[in-house]
Amino acid sequence: MEGTFTEEEKVEAEKDFQFLVEKGLDNDAIVKRFDCVAEKYDKMQAIHGNSLQKWMAESLAALYTHNRKSVSILDAAAGTGLVSCEMRKQGFLHIDGLEPSERMLEQAKKNNLYERYICDILADKTLDIADDTYNIVTVVGLSSEIFSTLPIKAFEELVRITKSGGHILMNHYDYIFQRDVLRANLAILEDRGLWKLEDKQIKPNTAHGFTGHLHVYNVL
Ligand SMILES: C[S@@+](CC[C@H](N)C(=O)[O-])C[C@H]1O[C@@H](n2cnc3c(N)ncnc32)[C@H](O)[C@@H]1O
Repeated sequence: MEGTFTEEEKVEAEKDFQFLVEKGLDNDAIVKRFDCVAEKYDKMQAIHGNSLQKWMAESLAALYTHNRKSVSILDAAAGTGLVSCEMRKQGFLHIDGLEPSERMLEQAKKNNLYERYICDILADKTLDIADDTYNIVTVVGLSSEIFSTLPIKAFEELVRITKSGGHILMNHYDYIFQRDVLRANLAILEDRGLWKLEDKQIKPNTAHGFTGHLHVYNVL
């Protein structure tokens, strides 16, 4: 969604953003808030000039220079499917979406952005997805407070459902990747030989003036 926006639209987008990032909410409450803003979400992201989705798709395209039509992808924390939209522009076709907010998923369905729509959450639980299903898993801008404290089981699950030799790519703001729990969990999986950090990219001003980090893990 591109275009010019009025001052009122910009003020509303900022209000919605603050509503989504309020501190002290548990995961259920955050998901309910995404339900509330689902119809306005794409416009809000356009107003904020969020480039995390496009950056993810471009990084994936640089990593997979051929066979893009045949690789299978899970986009976790899929939201309304903005990442799928960008990946499709790069020639990726087989993309499933996992997202806990039914309303956000409904928006993605309207635009036919995923093959399988999985209404589920990354947490301390097993996902209803078979081992070694995907070549690639992406996680773009997963809610800050959730991503930075995600239990290690959630990452183990992403590894379990990714084929050996495949990739897990995650991006977010730099300060989120510096949080203790997240840094520790990412390192533990590497120490256990489950994945290897293959690339770490840095991009200034990905949205709200924040520098972004993008991690590429090779699943072993
Ligand atoms: C800022 S949006 C990003 C959506 C999409 N990746 C994008 O870039 O537009 C964060 C998404 O994370 C989802 N979410 C929140 N908690 C989650 C969890 N524990 N597991 C998976 N997704 C979660 C929210 O419902 C929301 O759709």
